[in-house]
Amino acid sequence: MQLCKDRVVIVTGAGRGLGREYALEFARQGAKVVVNDLGASPDGSTNAAGPADEVVAEIRAMGAEAVANMDDVSDWEGSQRMVQAAIDTFGSLDVLVNNAGILRDRMMVNMEPQDWDAVIRVHLRGTFAPSRHAGAYWRDESKAGRQRVARIINTSSSAGLFGNVGQTCYGAAKAGIAAMSIIAAQELARYGVTVNTIYPTGASRHLNHLIKSGRLNPQFNAVEGFDALDPANVAPLVAWLGSTESSGITGRVFGGRGGRITVAEGWHAGPYIEKAGRWEVSELGALMPDLVARAAPNATLDGVIPAPDKAAA
Ligand SMILES: NC(=O)c1ccc[n+]([C@@H]2O[C@H](COP(=O)([O-])OP(=O)(O)OC[C@H]3O[C@@H](n4cnc5c(N)ncnc54)[C@H](O)[C@@H]3O)[C@@H](O)[C@H]2O)c1
Repeated sequence: MQLCKDRVVIVTGAGRGLGREYALEFARQGAKVVVNDLGASPDGSTNAAGPADEVVAEIRAMGAEAVANMDDVSDWEGSQRMVQAAIDTFGSLDVLVNNAGILRDRMMVNMEPQDWDAVIRVHLRGTFAPSRHAGAYWRDESKAGRQRVARIINTSSSAGLFGNVGQTCYGAAKAGIAAMSIIAAQELARYGVTVNTIYPTGASRHLNHLIKSGRLNPQFNAVEGFDALDPANVAPLVAWLGSTESSGITGRVFGGRGGRITVAEGWHAGPYIEKAGRWEVSELGALMPDLVARAAPNATLDGVIPAPDKAAA
């Protein structure tokens, strides 16, 4: 059974890595796919078109429908053209997967403002702008009495949810995307749109430098005879979230790695101290260490809350 038969899907940054696998899986599931990719270098400093056309050729070779789009997702008019390309080519839009991304890792003290701006632009604006244009289309469809079973699937990262050295900028963008998704889910529910976020792991240009730097353990979650870091492992989760079966699931953040699908549990208010009035600064010293000790420590990069003895070490 094809779970996304005739659904119209945009996948941004679908020329390589994870996005390519999502596009191929959607096509296998019967969707018509807009393959967006401007062919960026890993840090986004140069572009060379090509990968989007290659993925379109792969999809057509399997007998499914696809069209390439080379617009920059963080460009306001470009992202509008991309959304319009889906509607003009396939007559509608059902699913937007915001996946495109770049990396410019630096320790914060070495970060140049142009690197900060480039990363924030591609990830945050590059998620907002397509979502804004697609959301307006879905609002208009809903108001015209043609509400669609629509989906936005955004891309966060362990770096944004849990923190990772050298990625203040990327992590800030990815944490922002998770927050944006939760709020967009609340805003767009009335138009029939769910908004979920994934934090994927898959061997791509993106990931390889994390493994090389020793910050990611490639053996985590390893199973013999199964390549847990194959980016294709994440595609079933994304295709299912894009299907009509996932109705009712919105505002969630899912980890996808190897054979594991995780639901991230977000920020929530922990233990507190309270008095009927304003604290004196001088009162807090006696109370704050105990308050913090009663709270769960932050999760590690794998998303796991460390055992109390390790957290104290
Ligand atoms: N690979 C991982 O393990 C991992 C982990 C966490 C998050 N992510 C996120 O997953 C997404 C995909 O990453 P990947 O590892 O497949 O990277 P990748 O570099 O292999 O692919 C990203 C694609 O996005 C395209 N792109 C970049 N800027 C663009 C723009 N402005 N407009 C259109 N296309 C653009 C690039 O050309 C590239 O083909 C990214 O958002 C990344 O931050 C990846």
